[in-house]
Amino acid sequence: MASLYLGIDLGSSSVKVSIVDLNTSRALAQATEPPDEMLITAPVPGWAEQDPIVWWRHTVVAIKTACKQLQQAGRASSEIQAIGIAYQMHGLVALDATGSPIRPSIIWCDSRAVAVGNAASAGLGANYLAAHTLNPIGNFTAAKWGWVVAEEAHNRARIAHIMLPGDYLAFRLTGERTTTAGGLSEGIMWDFALRDVARPVLNSLQLSESAIPPLVPMMGVQGTVTREAASETGLPVGIPITYRAGDQPNNAFSLGVWSPGEVATTAGTSGVMYAVADNRPYDEAGRVNTFLHVTDTPDNPRQGVLLCVNGTGSAYQYLRRLLSCGRSAPLTYPELNAMGDQAPIGADGLRIYPFGNGAERMLGNANPGARWVGLDFNRHEPAHLVRATLEGIAFALTEGLRVFDALDIPTHCMRAGEANLFLNPTFREMLASLVGTEIELYDTDGAAGAARGAAIGVDHANPQTAFGALSCSRRIAPRPADGAPLQEAYAAWRENLSL
Ligand code: XUL
Repeated sequence: MASLYLGIDLGSSSVKVSIVDLNTSRALAQATEPPDEMLITAPVPGWAEQDPIVWWRHTVVAIKTACKQLQQAGRASSEIQAIGIAYQMHGLVALDATGSPIRPSIIWCDSRAVAVGNAASAGLGANYLAAHTLNPIGNFTAAKWGWVVAEEAHNRARIAHIMLPGDYLAFRLTGERTTTAGGLSEGIMWDFALRDVARPVLNSLQLSESAIPPLVPMMGVQGTVTREAASETGLPVGIPITYRAGDQPNNAFSLGVWSPGEVATTAGTSGVMYAVADNRPYDEAGRVNTFLHVTDTPDNPRQGVLLCVNGTGSAYQYLRRLLSCGRSAPLTYPELNAMGDQAPIGADGLRIYPFGNGAERMLGNANPGARWVGLDFNRHEPAHLVRATLEGIAFALTEGLRVFDALDIPTHCMRAGEANLFLNPTFREMLASLVGTEIELYDTDGAAGAARGAAIGVDHANPQTAFGALSCSRRIAPRPADGAPLQEAYAAWRENLSL
């Protein structure tokens, strides 16, 4: 039986590629490029840009490396049946008529478009937003495009098409400029009521609808690998791309979070609480956002409701760099974790707010930077910094559940991939104790999830066929004794949350 599927996960720090054998449910190849972190440039404070051509170069290398591993495992790339793409959400890629990016991508954590988005939201009014886009315009792709149109006349004239980061990878693989309804929903250009492009949003930002590429299904054939892409990557010509999703919906989908009541959480560069809903929730304050979920169909509408903390893994990585200064070798993450375990719950009053990566939606798109509150030179050691950073991240994610509760979004079961901060036993136990729910961990990642999504996209098979063999690798139960002291520390942390 045809069994090999290739998944690409375009993140902010790297591109990951996995080739999964669905017969055994095992990843036969896994490659990450670059081995160190991809650069995010900030030519102006608050900006965040990456070059789409660099994404493509890393993707090519990662595909080649994964195909080599496949060969070493005695299998051939000619056996790959389909490709799935997961990608960093909300970015803007603008192409000219020849298909070249006219400027670097303005990525998800770039804060420049907040004012443009706020003005558009005010003009459209809360009634329209609540009924149609389910989000304020915020700082998402439409606002970023609006910023280019308003501020860069020289680029405005050259834009032939705009797209999301994953659309760009699909374009490089297939030669076709396409996007998805999910992509438009992430950019606040999708009308959930009419199931069509949100034309009033485009009009209010003076955006031309002709710049939006044709829609292809999130799951289903989106194009095939061209001769040119085949010669660059070594993949055979003609493999179909059959799945495309933002990294967070993809993560949720990969963890079997498909129905209301199920929640996925991540703590990579950014951290997310992602719940599935079917009643089109709208948070007027924009603390949580509603996008199309991958499993959405006209007959069975599904939305993903998401709280994003921009800097979770990046806050921990920053601390690691800081505490590694002056050491002959940088601290490893297990060493950093062990250091944090020396400090008590509540970190002796030290509170850390991990908001150093752009405009935070949970703070009304303010960009206050990270804050350390209550640092006492005579009491606090590096261990307290580690503990307070992990607590600040867990507290920020817990805020998501508060908002879900306020919006009546059910949250019965919680799942995460065994990756990033969920590799740290203290962090995952702390989060489980705070939310008071067992967290199920799965040994999977975004690229493997995209590969499984590609399998489903080939023939719209029941997800069980691709995910059936995925089993929970660990269950993290709340620790009753930690509940009260953690809630106390969380309450103290919340006191300084608003600016
Ligand atoms: C989600 C979000 C981030 C990016 C990271 O809304 O903005 O998690 O998707 O790639």
